Amino acid sequence: MSPSDRKIGISQSHAILIPLPLQGHINPMMQLAWKLVSHGFLITFVNTETNHQRIIKANKDQSLHDSGDMIRMVSVADGLAPDDSQSFVVKFFAEVENALGPSVIDKLIRNINEKEGDQKVSCIVADVWTCFGLHTVAKLHHISLAVFNTSLVSNFAILYFSPKLVSLGILPSDGIPKEDKTKKYLSSLPPLKSAHLPWLYGGEDMFRHAIRMVKEINKIEWVIFNTFYEQEPVVLDEMSKEMSVFPIGPLISPDFLDGDRNTERRLVPSLLKPEAECLEWLEKQAEQSVIYVSFGSYAALNKLQMEELSVALEATHRPFLWVVRSDTMDSCQSVFSPGFLERIIDRGCIVSWAPQLRVLSHPAIACFVTHCGWNSVQESITMGVPMLCWPYFADQFLNSTYIVDVWKVGLALNANNNGLIEREEFTKAIERLLVAEEGTAIREEMRKLNKIARDTVKEGGSSSNNFKLFLNAITKRVN
Ligand code: UDX
Repeated sequence: MSPSDRKIGISQSHAILIPLPLQGHINPMMQLAWKLVSHGFLITFVNTETNHQRIIKANKDQSLHDSGDMIRMVSVADGLAPDDSQSFVVKFFAEVENALGPSVIDKLIRNINEKEGDQKVSCIVADVWTCFGLHTVAKLHHISLAVFNTSLVSNFAILYFSPKLVSLGILPSDGIPKEDKTKKYLSSLPPLKSAHLPWLYGGEDMFRHAIRMVKEINKIEWVIFNTFYEQEPVVLDEMSKEMSVFPIGPLISPDFLDGDRNTERRLVPSLLKPEAECLEWLEKQAEQSVIYVSFGSYAALNKLQMEELSVALEATHRPFLWVVRSDTMDSCQSVFSPGFLERIIDRGCIVSWAPQLRVLSHPAIACFVTHCGWNSVQESITMGVPMLCWPYFADQFLNSTYIVDVWKVGLALNANNNGLIEREEFTKAIERLLVAEEGTAIREEMRKLNKIARDTVKEGGSSSNNFKLFLNAITKRVN
């Protein structure tokens, strides 16, 4: 639909998108927004006020109106901080529910519908973690409601089936296994250590919240995933028996899929300002020579591990680009090995936030040392970069299992008994990945998976077909 069609009032689908207010959830929701825009949708993208301001500040060189007014960024008040005695999981999710709960979204829809004539809101797409109570709002306004699970299906599946696992006695009622065993929790999943179950970082509270989320999802008709069928076929077949699932990933900007990585036209809603200078530095490096190290927007290494990693990177004698977020250290000098910054000046580049997609698509990148956040994984696969896995929490252990054991596109870094990844472990893994025959096989597997990932979003590919089915579903008349 052209802007002139909009002016003369031809009716258009208008979706409200509600991400969980975290970087790893805002990014894929924005990619979904762009995909919907390319199919004629008008988008209202809802951020909490703090994040909205951070996005404006971090992206002030890039106009938020690059979307040609098809994506309207709106903000709602941040949730009130609940009682300090509560755990961080309870606090965070309570804040989310205060900020993005049904009464807030209802009010937002009423305001939009009063103002915008023909472009009334026709559907809501909420993150699985922001969908609480929204089925009542959708019903009230006679609009469709879908949820978006931004991580891999297998992670969702283990949460979804956890009440059943409790009733079968496979999981205790509080979700915290008493002994550490590796087992197949679901027949469709690879074996997983019980210490790596995705809710354990938030303990019992997180488990209870996940079960609440599952109950909520059961009231909602459609679930979309930032994955592609060929990535997790068995578990997707299992989930489709339960609900209408649409694997539509990888959700990556077509600017990158089309190979034109220098003309990024679409807004990347970074909460931190990317240091684009690292791209100039990358230009000076040899092809496939650079180790890219990043742990996403949340994970943080402790001081001892930071120092050990700095020694390890130096010991590889290879160029590296390392993202060290400013919130993860008190002062640079005190967390790196003594004299580190002076010694690596010729072959190391340290930034506080990188333009990650541009980095991963750069020919100089040889491998990605990653915490295995799902966006990083999908981005690495779509850019064909093999990974060294350093999972930290939540879905990341499961993601790492898929990378190493199922798709065989990366290697695991193993910690010692004190939980430290030692320099020898790191340098050996780098050599295995970049020099040994093992690495050649991994790169070959990555080439294959990369091709599948790119083909799946092309016309006729499984994700492209699923996206069309999803569009049909959410644009059908709702009574
Ligand atoms: C969180 C969880 O930790 C993760 O396990 C879950 O799968 C998604 O939500 P996060 O830890 O931030 O995400 O990691 P990730 O999923 O990789 O998302 C980070 C995003 O920030 C990516 O899109 C990445 O491209 C971007 N990023 C990261 C940058 O743009 N620059 C950086 O320097 C680092």
